[in-house]
Amino acid sequence: MPPSSTSAASSATERVLGKKLGIDLGTATLRVVTRGEGTLITEPAVVAMRDGEAANSLLGNAAFEARAQDRTIVLRRPLDGGDVRDHAALAALVQQAVNRAVGRQRIFKPDIVIAVRAGMDGDGRRSVLDAGARAGARTVYLIDAAIAAAMGAGIAITSSRPYLVVDIGAGKTDVAVLALEGTVAGRSLRGGGDQLFRGLAAQVEATHAVVLDRDELRSAGRLLVAATHEERTAEIGGVLLSSHELAPMVSDHLRPLDRALLEVLEDTPPALRRDLRSTGLLLTGGGARLEGLDRHLAGVTGCSVRVAADPEGCTVRGTALAVDNLDLLRRNFMYLR
Ligand SMILES: Nc1ncnc2c1ncn2[C@@H]1O[C@H](COP(=O)(O)OP(=O)(O)OP(=O)(O)O)[C@@H](O)[C@H]1O
Ligand SMILES: [Mg+2]
Repeated sequence: MPPSSTSAASSATERVLGKKLGIDLGTATLRVVTRGEGTLITEPAVVAMRDGEAANSLLGNAAFEARAQDRTIVLRRPLDGGDVRDHAALAALVQQAVNRAVGRQRIFKPDIVIAVRAGMDGDGRRSVLDAGARAGARTVYLIDAAIAAAMGAGIAITSSRPYLVVDIGAGKTDVAVLALEGTVAGRSLRGGGDQLFRGLAAQVEATHAVVLDRDELRSAGRLLVAATHEERTAEIGGVLLSSHELAPMVSDHLRPLDRALLEVLEDTPPALRRDLRSTGLLLTGGGARLEGLDRHLAGVTGCSVRVAADPEGCTVRGTALAVDNLDLLRRNFMYLR
């Protein structure tokens, strides 16, 4: 049955007055932006569930605080390796994020764009769409994290000029050649920065019997990729660490990424591949901050590498731009209304 003119008019009003939210559903960090208001939520992607109800849950730092007061509270992380691990916790996380961004009492439903890893399976995608719908969205769209990141870094993805984008987060790594609004070739890997730092911690503990804290690990991180190019040493956590001893672990960690990049270039039509030499590789996500990684990836791909400004913020900025371009999302991505 065609919609009545009243409901068509009210839906048009809703479209104009309803808020537009962009959500970057990161493995480690949830980021939310409300278009036009610049409101930004940045919280650890964790919830404390009370009575198993999304409505009674706490998000991010408030969840950690509640847990510190009450050891019976359970903290749940919805994502693992960029995939949905805990569906109920995901629903709670999205519900709390939407409540915080647009308020519990609202007249108009928001449109929501959520960035997820390209390799997320159908079950995971359905679960994210459902979480958005249950949180009260009018329409929920999913966008690939690498596309959102490229948009957030200022790349015009509607252009015929291709870009190679590498988004390295805490739990996943997306590699994509983008052109004409779409992904020409891509690989989506589980594993990101956290895996590298876990490997680093384990190796230092095994060889030096020292457990490094977070800051020490970050300092030791400066020896990592640079290690594949030059010899460096640093005293960290009371032991002398050398880049030389860490190099094999780093190479093992980077091998899947190196392979994915070569495969993606191989899958890219030769004319576009040639263009990539001039447009280059854009590195986004927190993992982009790893010192020396740009040089390493330039060596692997033969492309010039640019580390995005504020690399962790690119994806959520891109989702805010995407909500202004819902036609693009309807053409290219899954959505639910
Ligand atoms: N200076 C740095 N050097 C190396 N790695 C860093 C640095 N700063 C942050 N990182 C890494 O960045 C990662 C977090 O990145 P980001 O916030 O983009 O992840 P996310 O979006 O939550 O996760 P994902 O995109 O994988 O789902 C962590 O693994 C962290 O170790
Ligand atoms: Mg991310």
